[in-house]
Amino acid sequence: MKNIILVVDDDKTNLTLAQKILLPHYRIAATSSGRAALKYLETNNPDLILLDINMPDMDGFEVMEQLRLKEETAKIPVIFLTADNLVETEVKCFRMGAVDFVTKPFVPDILLSRVGKTLELEQYRHNLEKMVKEQAEKITEDARRISMIQDSVIVGMANLIESRDGSTGKHVKNTQMYVKMIVDELHNRNLFPEQLTEEYMQDICKAAPLHDVGKIKVPDSVLQKPGKLTPEEYELMKMHTTYSRKIIKMIIGDVEDESYVQTVEDIAMYHHERWDGTGYPTGLAGDRIPLAARIMSVADVFDALYEERVYKPPIRPIERIMQIMMEGRGTQFDPVIMDVFMEMVPMLKEVLHIQ
Ligand SMILES: [Fe+2]
Repeated sequence: MKNIILVVDDDKTNLTLAQKILLPHYRIAATSSGRAALKYLETNNPDLILLDINMPDMDGFEVMEQLRLKEETAKIPVIFLTADNLVETEVKCFRMGAVDFVTKPFVPDILLSRVGKTLELEQYRHNLEKMVKEQAEKITEDARRISMIQDSVIVGMANLIESRDGSTGKHVKNTQMYVKMIVDELHNRNLFPEQLTEEYMQDICKAAPLHDVGKIKVPDSVLQKPGKLTPEEYELMKMHTTYSRKIIKMIIGDVEDESYVQTVEDIAMYHHERWDGTGYPTGLAGDRIPLAARIMSVADVFDALYEERVYKPPIRPIERIMQIMMEGRGTQFDPVIMDVFMEMVPMLKEVLHIQ
C-alpha cells in the first residue's frame, strides 16, 4: 500500500510539479490553502504533509500550530516548503516541529529523497512505539500472573496450616474478606487518612492470610484440644504469633517490597495485642499496635465467634456476636475500628447470606 502525502501550496504550478514528482511513488492529496488542508485532515490521516510556509490567509506556521493542538494530527510528520533560503526561516521550521525543510523550486531527486527518508524514519518510530507498547503490556501481564500465583501459594499454604486445627479452611478466606471490608469502610469514611494509603490498603489485604502461619509450630494436642487449654498449653498457643513472624522473615524476608513484608510481620506478630495493653506477645497498647494488626484483630475475633471450632459452637445471631465484641471496645479493640465494624452488620449479613 502506497503512503499518502498531503501537499499544501497556494501556487498551482508548485502543486502540479510536486504531484508530478511524487505520484509515481505515492498517493497524493493536494490543497491550495491552509484552511482546506485542516478541513481535509478532519477526515483523513496522511502519512506525511508537505506544507508551504508563505500562503495568504493562513500561513504554514499557523497551520502547523493547529495540527499540534489535535491528538489525531499532532504526530503526522511535516516537511515545510519555502522559496527563501534564510537561516532564520529554517530555524523557525525546526522549532515549530518540522521534520525537514525543502526549498522551492523543487529539485526532483532532493524532494524524493527527503520524503523517502522521512517516511522511513516515521516507520521506524511507529514500529518502535508499537514494540515498546507490546513489551509494556507483556510486563504488566507477567507481573499480574506472578502476583496471582504468589497470592494463591500464600493462601494455599495458610489454608494447609489452618486445616490442622480441624477448622473448615474458611478462616483464611473469610478473615481476608472481613479485613478487606473493614479497610474499604475505614477508607470510605476517611478514617486514618495518613496511614491508609492505596499501597498500605493493598498490603494489609494481601498480608491477612499469613496471620497465623506460626500455628505450624504449635503441637496438634494443643491446636486440636476440644476443651479449655491449661496455662502451659495456652503459653504454647500464644507462641504462634512470634513463630509467625519468624516464618515470614524466613519465607518472604528477601522480597524487595519492604513495606509489604513489614505489614505481614506486623499482622502476624501483633494480631492478638489488645488496645488496653493486656494482649500478647508484647503487650503493646493503643495506636502503638500497628493499624494492620488492629484491623486483623477485629476480623479474626469475629470469624472465631461466627464459625464453629473444636472448642466451641458457632454463636448466633450476628447481633449477639456484635454485642460480645462491643464489650471489648476500647479494651480489646481499637474503638474507632470497632464502631465502624458495628455499623457494618448489614454488609456482613449480605456476604454471609444471612436473611
Ligand atoms: Fe492468631
